[in-house]
Amino acid sequence: MNSSCNGLFLEDLAVTFTSKRSGKVDALKGVSLKMRQGDTFALVGESGSGKTTLLRIVLGLLKPVRGKVCLLGEDLDRCTPEDLTMIRRQCGYIPQDPYGCLPPTLNVMQSVIEPCLIVRGRKNLPAAKEKARQLLREVGLDDPSIWNSRVWTTLSGGQRQRVSIARALVLEPLLLLADEPTSMQDASTRGEIIGILKRHVQRGMSLIFVTHDLFLARAAAERILVLYRGLPCEEGPSDEIVKDPLHPYTRALLAASPRLGEKITSISREGPENGPADEGCPFRFKCPEAGNECTSAPPLRELEGRKVACWKVRE
Ligand SMILES: Nc1ncnc2c1ncn2[C@@H]1O[C@H](COP(=O)(O)OP(=O)(O)OP(=O)(O)O)[C@@H](O)[C@H]1O
Ligand SMILES: [Mg+2]
Repeated sequence: MNSSCNGLFLEDLAVTFTSKRSGKVDALKGVSLKMRQGDTFALVGESGSGKTTLLRIVLGLLKPVRGKVCLLGEDLDRCTPEDLTMIRRQCGYIPQDPYGCLPPTLNVMQSVIEPCLIVRGRKNLPAAKEKARQLLREVGLDDPSIWNSRVWTTLSGGQRQRVSIARALVLEPLLLLADEPTSMQDASTRGEIIGILKRHVQRGMSLIFVTHDLFLARAAAERILVLYRGLPCEEGPSDEIVKDPLHPYTRALLAASPRLGEKITSISREGPENGPADEGCPFRFKCPEAGNECTSAPPLRELEGRKVACWKVRE
């Protein structure tokens, strides 16, 4: 075990997808992140900024073309498949899509206990059921009649999302990767879900919370990393980022956030369309402050406990 990187340490991650339809897509272009055990981080960015891709790398479901992932003391590049399985068992994952992520043939109770039975065997059934009941009550599915319902045919999207949250927490993970876990909840229950996740953080769990909403990010996590087209724009304590955003893209995201609950697909601005993504600041085509210097890529600079990639931000 390498205790120097206990928690999660991501260094300069890059991922490129190639598909027939879109050709080559650089989904991540150099993202780093450091969390100690128990830390909470929110990943924020519009659709296509690379948030889900980053989670899939952490879980070892996707291999980066460049960079390093060190999770719970292990360098994923050096792990055997058995090591990787052991590490994954310490990680809970709430996938983005509550429709596709639950087994179609199982009922609510079976869906929640399944990870326990896989890891601990059938002898664990009574304890797994007890834990599942407790979690289902915690996520607001407290009516026992619902526990025998088929997830696929009887539950709403919001209810499926709650089942998925209970399933991700059933093994008491050390790290929870939550990909837009409140996207199908209404405004009042969104706060409840965040409260539940925070209670699990209090027992020592780390949390990566993915959202496109900066206010939700602040409620869920101590630090925020803002991504734009696979690049980090800004990172820092959540309160400071929301009160005093440094990057023009973060300011645009905040200005768009009164439309709470809506998915932000792009930040628009009068002027030229997106240009080539590989040169200069990728946000410069939409940035109201862009100048000549922005045709070269701004480095991510440290600034009093925060980080920002923008030439316009002065020391
Ligand atoms: N399997 C894949 N094959 C090809 N391109 C992909 C694949 N997965 C993701 N991409 C592309 O990589 C980029 C980042 O995708 P990703 O799903 O990580 O974005 P996201 O920030 O999670 O977006 P959303 O908020 O819509 O979930 C997008 O341009 C997406 O189209
Ligand atoms: Mg996503």
